[in-house]
Amino acid sequence: MTAALPWHPCGVNLADSAFLRACRRQPVPHTPVWYMRQAGRSLPEYLRVREGVPMLTACSTPDMIVEITMQPVRRYGVDAAIFFSDIVVPLKAIGVDLDIKPGVGPVVADPIRDAKGLRTLRPLEPDDIPYVTEAIQALTGELGGTPLIGFAGAPFTLGSYLIEGGPSKNHDKTKAMMYGEPELWHALMERLSEIVLTHLRLQVAAGASAVQLFDSWVGAVAPADYREFVLPHTRRIFEGLTGVPRIHFGVGTGELLGLLGEAGADVVGVDWRVPLDEAGRRVGPGRALQGNLDPAVLLAPWEVVERKAREVLRQGRAAEGHVFNLGHGVLPSTDPDQLKRLTDLVHEAG
Ligand code: CP3
Repeated sequence: MTAALPWHPCGVNLADSAFLRACRRQPVPHTPVWYMRQAGRSLPEYLRVREGVPMLTACSTPDMIVEITMQPVRRYGVDAAIFFSDIVVPLKAIGVDLDIKPGVGPVVADPIRDAKGLRTLRPLEPDDIPYVTEAIQALTGELGGTPLIGFAGAPFTLGSYLIEGGPSKNHDKTKAMMYGEPELWHALMERLSEIVLTHLRLQVAAGASAVQLFDSWVGAVAPADYREFVLPHTRRIFEGLTGVPRIHFGVGTGELLGLLGEAGADVVGVDWRVPLDEAGRRVGPGRALQGNLDPAVLLAPWEVVERKAREVLRQGRAAEGHVFNLGHGVLPSTDPDQLKRLTDLVHEAG
């Protein structure tokens, strides 16, 4: 695998960026900040670009990917860009019949529930997603000294969409396979891990300076089950990826934070339910933390946002490195002006 170049072609030393330094637990001039789902439906300029264009078309059109990835960097001055795509893009690219339905999320036509379904999941080849490489190469030029975060969905979260056929509250069919057919489950997780690794390595080779693994729905799993059914796979992914900081995020993972620490990422993302000082104790030493303002706080008056953000910054000081973020993605009804003010506040106060 190609390690990310510390020197950007235009002479900016990316390794000196506050974001990459915080991920590596090095001293920073200010607390770096970016937002999960910073590119997207709360931005009027995003809505204009996306008008009449289906989500998966946007995700496979390099010009659109570059423009949408740049929008929040221009507007907010965040310390990192996140590649505009979706966790299901590599699955679509290997032939899974799926779509992203507005207001719903990914929907899979033929859910995978048996060995025959599993065989339809072939390995991902770089040629399947040429638009990802092309867009990342263009972005590293546009971004200058701002690092680009590549990402993938984790095997559990991708597996849940494939098994359930769409978004799920209880992940019941997913758990039924996990408990009832453990061999099939592990075979599915292994196949998905291969796809994820290829996808992340390709993004790093093209110029991504860090990667985030989104295991958004893994909070549905109890710690003992996480250890048996999920941890071996996420650990293999992080072991297979070196050279750039690796961030590991899930929602509702309060009881799993110690195990996320064991999975091997450099940075553990924390949702809003556990204060960062307590999260640090649970994750253990040798990891930076990312998070964790409740995204709903941004819908309250600015005075509330400021008070709560300062609290997150204060609790984050206990961590060996802190990347300010929300506890989950930006909500569509968020006023972009609040995010701009929050970004400035973190830079000044942190
Ligand atoms: O963070 C960013 O700004 C980068 C872009 C990004 C998207 N999806 C764009 C998107 C990222 C990092 C994702 C990851 C993703 N996708 C996750 C993990 C992060 C998380 O929120 O937990 C998950 C679980 C998905 C699956 C998915 N795709 C969902 C749940 C949805 C939302 C459905 C809805 O409309 O409420 C999508 C669609 C999606 N992905 C949109 C965007 C901008 C909305 C599409 C639209 O505009 O119609």
